[in-house]
Amino acid sequence: MEPKKVTVPDVVKMKARSERITMVTAYDHAFARLLDEAGVELLLVGDSLGMVVQGLETTVPVTLDEMVYHTRLVARGRRRALVVGDLPFGSYQTSVQQGVESAVRLVKEGGAEAVKLEGGITMAKTIEAIAAIDVPVVGHVGLTPQSVHRMGGHRVQGRRHGHGPGERERVVDDARAVQEAGAFAVVLECIPLDLAAEITAALAIPTIGIGAGVHCDGQVLVLHDLIGLSDAWTPRFAKRYAEVGREVVRAAEAFVQEVKAGAFPTEAQAFRPAKASAGG
Ligand code: KIV
Repeated sequence: MEPKKVTVPDVVKMKARSERITMVTAYDHAFARLLDEAGVELLLVGDSLGMVVQGLETTVPVTLDEMVYHTRLVARGRRRALVVGDLPFGSYQTSVQQGVESAVRLVKEGGAEAVKLEGGITMAKTIEAIAAIDVPVVGHVGLTPQSVHRMGGHRVQGRRHGHGPGERERVVDDARAVQEAGAFAVVLECIPLDLAAEITAALAIPTIGIGAGVHCDGQVLVLHDLIGLSDAWTPRFAKRYAEVGREVVRAAEAFVQEVKAGAFPTEAQAFRPAKASAGG
């Protein structure tokens, strides 16, 4: 039997019911299927793929074509979860119109059911315009990796008081602006847990935290951190629930050894020629 699909209204209702929301990044069909089977409610096709799939230093070079491609792979693998496609840097910052057109591509060509974009006050008009054409939007404030060069690295935001970019009151204002513009949820990344608690209490829409403490309405992790597929270093806020990377090495080493020793393939994996028929 097909499982009941997670919808945008379902996610909004979860906050009202104090039901915690789970979101995990996915970049391809196989992992989308597995995460969906595990009961994750939201699959985020994050532009973090630039770092964990493409081996880049930052998410900045990721293109909209790449996001459309990976979103399509994920959309094919999910049955129940809601697929959120990330708008990459340069696909929505130059004008509101550009943001709307990029969002349409993620939905129409990629199969996303919602899009995520980074930024608060400065992106309010873009969020409003995308939501106005009925594309559900997830906001993203606090540490916004596409602003890595302004921030001087991937640093915790909102530690100091002030209304400047990355300062405490500004993060609150950004989160409020995202809600007022019509987003249905907002990611809070790398901010102190008391600030995340304040924002979560102030907003009607769900907050989904990463490095933002336990008081958010939901939590998101990058898949490669969650399953231990990234290298030995894991961000302090993440938790490795498995060591899949080690298991991959173990399996590949066993394969190498068996091939070298002539132990693979065996009869069981080999084909025989067709038997000659009686009539010749
Ligand atoms: O791109 C991404 O994976 C993200 C998460 C870290 C929220 O934006």
